[in-house]
Amino acid sequence: MVQPLEDLYGRVATDLRVSLTDRCNLRCSYCMPAEGLEWLPDEATLSDDEVVRLVTIGVRMLGVREVRFTGGEPLVRRGLVDIIRRTHDLGGVETSITTNALGLQRTAVALREAGLDRVNVSLDTVRSDTFAQITRRDRFHDVVAGLAAAKGAGLGPVKVNAVLLRGVNDDQAPELLRWCLERGYELRFIEQMPLDAQHAWNRTAMVTAEEIFAALDREFTLTPAVEPRGSDPAELFLVDGGPGTVGVIASVTRPFCGDCDRVRLTADGQVRNCLFARQESDLRTAMRAGASDQELADRWIVAMRGKLAGHGIDDPSFLQPDRPMSAIGG
Ligand code: 5AD
Ligand code: SF4
Repeated sequence: MVQPLEDLYGRVATDLRVSLTDRCNLRCSYCMPAEGLEWLPDEATLSDDEVVRLVTIGVRMLGVREVRFTGGEPLVRRGLVDIIRRTHDLGGVETSITTNALGLQRTAVALREAGLDRVNVSLDTVRSDTFAQITRRDRFHDVVAGLAAAKGAGLGPVKVNAVLLRGVNDDQAPELLRWCLERGYELRFIEQMPLDAQHAWNRTAMVTAEEIFAALDREFTLTPAVEPRGSDPAELFLVDGGPGTVGVIASVTRPFCGDCDRVRLTADGQVRNCLFARQESDLRTAMRAGASDQELADRWIVAMRGKLAGHGIDDPSFLQPDRPMSAIGG
């Protein structure tokens, strides 16, 4: 019998985001400092078997239907293909990864063969100099190759996530969209959220959804796509009558917390009921102390009851979570 992961507001979590590592081979300025971020110690990080055990509990006992692996950068985790195969083999579960696509050129086919359904690639610019400025690494062409390999391997529809940064790439929204449309990638802009390791986010510097629409409207005609939005955080639009689309995820200015169906598991085995949660529930310690599957499921259910109605980023009392995005998983 499945016991759903329901919170006190009636939302049911069926979409599990699993961070496989807090490490990354890029250093995006809105995510990590240039250097000096401390990594999780190896012994705190879940093993492949531990990850698969918790995912199995989620899928078999708690009604999880979608599993997205994130990081940090999930492709730097050695066991990734195996973890995906074992997740896929549970049956009835959609699998995806959120990745920066470095190295995807080499692994796309193996990932597809292991049962991976889709990829979301993070790419904020199609200029290699801006790419190097944002990520502090000169790897734009590897991402381009990774994206093409993902599409070629059938990991579609390939989605591209972009964050616009004021004074850096905020003038590049139309060219990014044109580039993605030409290649058949589905672009989605995400408002920058206060999740950077260096706590430098600031409301007034954030490029808002409204500004993004204004920039796109100058070069394209956007019409709302008819599909119901449901729990998809992106507002979706047809570009110039379609079939190409663009999405905008206005996490800050138009929060969608009321429709959230997500729950997160960190690389060190903590359940987080929200990206912005200030509390976590420690499944790793319980698991290593010998807890049964049912005991772990029960802890997970209790953790969901503490899920708040919304993130409150626009509240004066908002406090950024202690852990950055790279440790929580996007
Ligand atoms: N705000 C919005 N998006 C972010 N990402 C990373 N940090 C932030 C942030 N502070 C994005 C990445 C990736 C996804 C996991 O989240 O670009 O696409
Ligand atoms: Fe790496 Fe993603 Fe953070 Fe960039 S945003 S540094 S790609 S984890």
